[in-house]
Amino acid sequence: MIEAEAKKIALTGDRPTGPLHLGHLAGSLLERLRLQEEAEQYVLIADVQALTDHFDEPDKIRRNVTDVLLDYLAVGLDPGKTTFVLQSQVPEIAELSVYFLNLVTLARLERNPTIKEEMKQKNYKANVPAGFLTYPIHQAADIAAFGAERVPVGEDQLPMIELAREIVRSFNRIYGPTLAEPLAVLSRVTRLPGIDGKTKMSKTLGNAIDLKTEEEELSRRVMRMYTDPRKVRATDPGHVEGNVVFAYLDAFDPQREELETLKVHYRRGKVGDVEVKRRLIRVLNELLSPIRARRSEWEARQAQLRDILREGTERGRRKTQPVMERVRKALRVDFFSE
Ligand code: TRP
Repeated sequence: MIEAEAKKIALTGDRPTGPLHLGHLAGSLLERLRLQEEAEQYVLIADVQALTDHFDEPDKIRRNVTDVLLDYLAVGLDPGKTTFVLQSQVPEIAELSVYFLNLVTLARLERNPTIKEEMKQKNYKANVPAGFLTYPIHQAADIAAFGAERVPVGEDQLPMIELAREIVRSFNRIYGPTLAEPLAVLSRVTRLPGIDGKTKMSKTLGNAIDLKTEEEELSRRVMRMYTDPRKVRATDPGHVEGNVVFAYLDAFDPQREELETLKVHYRRGKVGDVEVKRRLIRVLNELLSPIRARRSEWEARQAQLRDILREGTERGRRKTQPVMERVRKALRVDFFSE
């Protein structure tokens, strides 16, 4: 039991805005599979955060909650080892967010490179909804409310974790040592490009391969992938850098040596795109087929899915309660609690 108590608390989350894709797998799901063996892991389905930029689509967000849970179970996250928490049902997070809002300036929020990028995409300027600009504060509360020490994320989330660290430090300095300072755990492969070669795989850009993609659609998507526009014939020398097919092989091909040889041949014009793409299709099907199988098993057990989420959320809420008691005490708002 001593061993169990020494486990680090890890927390991550996803916005339930659509199905999870290979970018999520490379960027964070594989890390979570590893972490569930060695940490006390919480995975948050961040529906409140999803509503910050989808406030006019509440039905869609609600539907996606179960789909994201299915994706988690399909990749092998185990409800006996990982606690799945539905963010909207943990009011403690919202409570902590309100106090955190006091510790961050508007200028600091506007300096966040991920927020800047998202604001550009959405064409937000001074008309940015306050809820959107401040979601990183809410995210800091996600992390701090659970006392999370480790936050496994992709690169684009590093500014969020940095802000969470600053907020926790300010809180502890002003009100006395209360909250745990979180540390980001960066995954091996951080950013998987979209199949069109655009910087990031993203559901919004329509360049993603979802985890639930069936074989036929998978082949179509891989065959459409951006490779090296300068390589016209199989015998032309090709570039591996900036080539989406190789980026994916780098991320998922277990046969590293063979892959390196293939790269040499590709550079020398000894192998064409189609052959490389066939390899990727095989690699991805091997990766996805147990995921597809587990997904259909869980899909048939809807009632159990609901129980998993309800029980996880309850367990999560219990986890935040002692933290919040300390927070209220530090903030001198621990009224009526004797
Ligand atoms: N912002 C994260 C994303 O878009 C999701 C998220 C919400 C999260 N709360 C979190 C990640 C807490 C890590 C920790 O992917």
